[in-house]
Amino acid sequence: MNNIINFAHRGASAVCPENTMAAFRKGLELGATGIETDVQMTKDGGLVLIHDETLNRTTSGTGYVKDHTLAELLEVDAGSWFGPEFKDERLPLLEDLLDLLQGRDTILNIELKNGTFLYPGMEEKVIAAVRDFKMSDRVIFSSFNHYSLAYCQSLAPEIRTGILYGEGLYRPWDYAATLGATALHAYHFAVLPEFFEEAAKHGVAYHPWTVNDPERMKYLIEAGVSGIITDHPDLLAGLLADKGV
Ligand code: G3P
Ligand code: MG
Repeated sequence: MNNIINFAHRGASAVCPENTMAAFRKGLELGATGIETDVQMTKDGGLVLIHDETLNRTTSGTGYVKDHTLAELLEVDAGSWFGPEFKDERLPLLEDLLDLLQGRDTILNIELKNGTFLYPGMEEKVIAAVRDFKMSDRVIFSSFNHYSLAYCQSLAPEIRTGILYGEGLYRPWDYAATLGATALHAYHFAVLPEFFEEAAKHGVAYHPWTVNDPERMKYLIEAGVSGIITDHPDLLAGLLADKGV
């Protein structure tokens, strides 16, 4: 059992339509020890797993998620865009994924997609769902909206948070401490190997995204990364097994 978390990004999104139950199940089957997903909120406060603010790219629907009711969104086809064999995939609720992972030791990274639309009340709802499933010890919240992460920390200090960012933060472990975060979810080109040791000294883990090149995976593993977010959990699982980490 290695201790580098292998996060399937939006599920096994290289081989299944992203953020569908098929993708999450496939990720587990391919050796993921973590799942990353994106959550958006419907007009009536439902929590659905979809990356974009709009339905256009990955579903049969159109328009913004926030302008539809949950009942409307449960009708859309979230799989056919990827391949006809996925035509029965629907937009999962956050609860569907929590249910899938209940009783497993998989780490769940819930990315709150509240950077473009703030989705007031989303933090409370996501926290309530995680607590209902008694999975606080296995969840990491992340967001590009760091105000939201600080708010999550204040509401639910028992649930870990990871700071999402895309470019070079100066001493990000110090910034993490100001937010009470325990992980840095950095774009993988925004990390240098010497950062890992310094972050670890401060009790902060690095989970870079989205790493699909096996050479880059090897480099990060050698450098002492804590976890990797990838569309190819099978590739990463193979490398981790080879290295016995
Ligand atoms: O959480 C890591 C990564 O998913 C952040 O970017 O756009 O893929 O959600 P994005
Ligand atoms: Mg994401």
